[in-house]
Amino acid sequence: SLEITRIQPFPEQRTAIVTGAGAARGIGRRVARKLAAEGWSVVAADLDAAAVEAFAEELAAELPADSGQKVLGVGVDVSDQAAVDAAFARVDAEMPPIAALVNLAGIPSPHSIFELTSEIWDRVMDVNGKGTLLMMQAAAKRMVDGGFGGRIVNTSSITALDGGGTFSKTGYAAAKAAVQGLTRGAARELGQYGITANVILPGPIDTDIMGGTLTDERKEGMSSNIPLQRVGQPEEVAGLIAFLVGEDSSYVTGTSISVDGGKHM
Ligand code: NAI
Repeated sequence: SLEITRIQPFPEQRTAIVTGAGAARGIGRRVARKLAAEGWSVVAADLDAAAVEAFAEELAAELPADSGQKVLGVGVDVSDQAAVDAAFARVDAEMPPIAALVNLAGIPSPHSIFELTSEIWDRVMDVNGKGTLLMMQAAAKRMVDGGFGGRIVNTSSITALDGGGTFSKTGYAAAKAAVQGLTRGAARELGQYGITANVILPGPIDTDIMGGTLTDERKEGMSSNIPLQRVGQPEEVAGLIAFLVGEDSSYVTGTSISVDGGKHM
C-alpha cells in the first residue's frame, strides 16, 4: 500500500554491515572505510575475528570524535545460522539501526569438474550462497521493522556469466550464479518495504582471494582481453558499492552491475 511504500528517510545514525572485511587487501575494508567516511556506522564482519576486531579499532580511531558513529568488528561464519544470530545479537545491542548490508564474504573454488568433490561443492555453495541468504534474512528483518527501507548489495562475479575464463571455476560460477537469483528474488520481495537489493559482478580485482596467485605476470596476461587493459583495484569496486548504498541509487533495484574493465559484455 501507499503507506508502506512512503517510507521514512534513513535515521542520521545508521549502520551498514560489511561482510568479508577481514582481508587486509580485500574489497570489504575499502567499502567499510568509504561508508564510514560517508557518515555510516559500520559493522566489519568476517570469519577472521582477530582481523576485523583490529581493523574496527583502527577505523574507529580515524573517525571524528564528535561524529557519533560507531564501528564494531565481529567474527562470524556467514554460512552458520547460529553464528549469524550471535553476530546480529551484538549488532542489535551495540549499534544504531541497520540500514545497509554489503555481502562480500566469499571463497573461491579453483577446481575442475573432476576435482569438485561434494565437500568442496557444499562449502563453496554454503559460504557464497547460503551465507548471502542468512545475512540477508537477518538484516532485512531488521530493515522491515525499522520502517525506513534499506540497501542490500550482494557480490556475484563475471565468472557466473562466463564460467571462469582461462581456468577451472565451475563450482564458484554456480555459487555466484545463485547469488544473482537470490538478489533478484530479494529485490522483488523486499521492494514493498523500500529495501533495494542489487548484485555486483566484479571482474579480476587485485586482492588476495586467489591466495596470491595473481602475480604481476598473470595480471599482465589477463589484461590483454580486458578493454581497459588492466586488472581492477578494490577501491574501484568500493566506489560502485558506495553508489548502491547511497541516496543516488534510490530507484535502482534488482539489477546486476559489472565492474570488470569491460571484460565481459
Ligand atoms: P578476499 O579473499 O580478499 O576477502 C574475502 C573475505 O571473506 C576474507 O576476509 C575471508 O576471511 C572472508 N570469508 C571467507 N569465508 C567466510 C565466511 N564463511 N564467513 C565470513 N567471512 C568469510 O576477497 P575479495 O577479493 O575482497 O572478494 C570479495 C568478494 O568479491 C568475494 O565474494 C569474491 O568472491 C568476490 N569477487 C572477487 C573478485 C576478485 O577478483 N577479487 C572477482 C569477482 C568476485
